[in-house]
Amino acid sequence: MSDDFTSTRDETDLIREVFVYAHRFQGSVFVFRIGARLMALPSFPGLVSDLALLHENGIKIVLVPSGGARIDELLAIYGIETEKAQGLRISTPEAMPLIEMAAFDTATRLMNQLARNKVEAVVGNWVRARSYGVRDGIDFQQTGVVDKVHVELIMRSMEDDFVPILPCIGWSAIGEPYNISSIELATALAVGMKARKLFFLTEGELFSSSFTGLRGEGLTVREDPATGASRVSRFTVQAAERILAIPGLELGRPDRDMLEHSVTACRNGVERVHFLDGDQEGVVLKEVFSTLGTGTMVHADPFENIRPMREADIPDVLRIMEPLIQEGNLVRRTQGDLQRKCSDYAVFETDGTIRGCGALHRYGENWAEIAGLAVDGSYKHLGIGARMVGYLTEEAKRLGLEGVFVLTTRTSDWFLSLGFQAATVDELPAERRETYDRDRKSRIYMKRLI
Ligand SMILES: CC(C)(COP(=O)(O)OP(=O)(O)OC[C@H]1O[C@@H](n2cnc3c(N)ncnc32)[C@H](O)[C@@H]1OP(=O)(O)O)[C@@H](O)C(=O)NCCC(=O)NCCS
Repeated sequence: MSDDFTSTRDETDLIREVFVYAHRFQGSVFVFRIGARLMALPSFPGLVSDLALLHENGIKIVLVPSGGARIDELLAIYGIETEKAQGLRISTPEAMPLIEMAAFDTATRLMNQLARNKVEAVVGNWVRARSYGVRDGIDFQQTGVVDKVHVELIMRSMEDDFVPILPCIGWSAIGEPYNISSIELATALAVGMKARKLFFLTEGELFSSSFTGLRGEGLTVREDPATGASRVSRFTVQAAERILAIPGLELGRPDRDMLEHSVTACRNGVERVHFLDGDQEGVVLKEVFSTLGTGTMVHADPFENIRPMREADIPDVLRIMEPLIQEGNLVRRTQGDLQRKCSDYAVFETDGTIRGCGALHRYGENWAEIAGLAVDGSYKHLGIGARMVGYLTEEAKRLGLEGVFVLTTRTSDWFLSLGFQAATVDELPAERRETYDRDRKSRIYMKRLI
């Protein structure tokens, strides 16, 4: 096959990929924390143009410029010294006007650059802060922490097509300004706005070579075929927690802070946190719209609470199933049925209690039925059912199956919303066709995996 053909096919695949991602992220909120050092680099206009493209394509972007490097610059120009303790600046009343000036200056630089891309932005005082206080005998003065973010007001500005920019300043209930961490602010925003993604754009790569030695559980290391260099491309939130707990691990303050906040974000509903070197050409677009991303991602593990069923779980599983059997939603299974098929079942467990279950029954070489799905009545609508289906589907993929199917009388719409498609009895594997209960008249839905 000619190289020309291969490259045309690669390009076509890439275009398809872009459309899929663009569709998937329409209307989603992405929060970007942008390192102040990036703003002085020649690559900065290109970076902002890419952010403007996201905005123009229906992704709701929120920008949080960091003040750090610019604050240092202004304090140096005016000859004011501030101390740092526990890695934080002590914001004295003398330094505070310059800190505010630097924070708003970085916001203005972003706004100017967006204006060059014909994107309208708005800077607002949407953050209530309170004092960081006195810790270990050190008074941090006007250094603050995020108390509340006025999410509704920010959302309203986005509905009017503005890009909100939040400088790293917050105000107390009586209007006292505080110097707050842009990392903490971006995280609070991402959680409060139910953002799909949180980005930390830095100058230079994070978690590169030093972390590759931690390869293994929860850590994915990728090798660049061109240079042979390896880097961590993603890790789970549990892996991030394990890394943070390694005694004596050398991590600079902002890196540790970002990693800790990525855990907070993922634990509170943000799907993915991306660490990107903002100085690399097109880095944001590659990360969002393709699988060519060069950054590092921390992601929540949706299957964290799911594990294979053990015999000891059977009484709990039967307890969850019973009311659903009574309602006619589920076919009755006995203790013996579950014992015989024990290895097919998985359970969802929180705080040592089973809240949901489901099974994957193999039929022939290529197909499996997802069955016995049940969620404890008090735990419905929390996404447990969808995660069980996701887990069982992943298991089917791991086994190399062609697809999965379900038989249901009352949950058609739910399975359709999970990407299943209506099918007929004739499409069932022969063995399952024979046991199909024609009186129950269950509907059939399938999902092809290859
Ligand atoms: C179906 C079932 C597994 C869903 O569990 P869950 O953890 O509540 O599901 P999720 O939280 O992932 O999804 C909930 C969404 O699905 C929708 N949904 C739930 N049951 C539905 C049904 N029967 N028809 C259509 N949609 C349904 C809900 O509207 C809900 O949407 P919302 O969160 O926006 O309100 C659970 O309701 C259950 O145990 N049902 C009885 C057993 C059953 O029918 N099993 C399937 C046949 S094997």
